[in-house]
Amino acid sequence: MSASDPKLFVCEHPLIQHLLAEARDQRTGPMVFRRLLRQVGAMLAYEALRDLPRITRRIQTPMEAMEVQTMRAPVTIVPILRAGLGLADGMLEVLPDARMGHIGLFRDESTLNPVTYYEKLPEDIAGGPTLLVDPMLATGGSACEALAKLWGRNCVDVRFVCLVASPEGVKRLHELDPNVPIYTAAVDRQLNEKGYILPGLGDAGDRLYGTG
Ligand code: PRP
Ligand code: URA
Repeated sequence: MSASDPKLFVCEHPLIQHLLAEARDQRTGPMVFRRLLRQVGAMLAYEALRDLPRITRRIQTPMEAMEVQTMRAPVTIVPILRAGLGLADGMLEVLPDARMGHIGLFRDESTLNPVTYYEKLPEDIAGGPTLLVDPMLATGGSACEALAKLWGRNCVDVRFVCLVASPEGVKRLHELDPNVPIYTAAVDRQLNEKGYILPGLGDAGDRLYGTG
């Protein structure tokens, strides 16, 4: 939790920071970059789901009966395409019964406004927690647009997970809703004039897929 923003969680675990450091390095190519995002995605999911609602069940071990705790409802992972897929792949590997929804957005390069091109979400998405996932929270336009789409589906427990945030993006998302928790590995210095995060890691989608 940050001192000035109780819903901003900067995940400072050394393993997360190590993976982020490698991902930032411009010498890291797409194959390693994909592996890093997958690994860090799993770790960020743990961080973001620490307070996941649970239920108590009675089971029988080979020795005796006992009460165990399990998740109350399946988590839905919603990557913002394209780059969100990089983190979401790692989350899927560690989350039992997780479902995936997809929101396709790209930033118009001249206005920096998000443009929607795809949306496919589970019908009953509102029944459990949703992880909204994108490695970069830059101007915050894409995250705000995606969040509004989830609200349109009556989602109440939405957690935004990213790898690198800008102060501008955090501010914009929390101006829209101060109660949406943001989990990130870093809050960087600032945006440049083209809306890229400094020092950042460049264009996450291009680095994942070798485009650009
Ligand atoms: C990148 C990134 C976010 C968005 C962040 O996606 O993955 O979705 O920009 O910027 P914002 O906070 O200013 O909206 P991009 O639009 O480049 O699309 P891509 O994932 O297909 O590369
Ligand atoms: N999108 C990215 O992929 N990187 C940035 O720094 C900003 C937006």
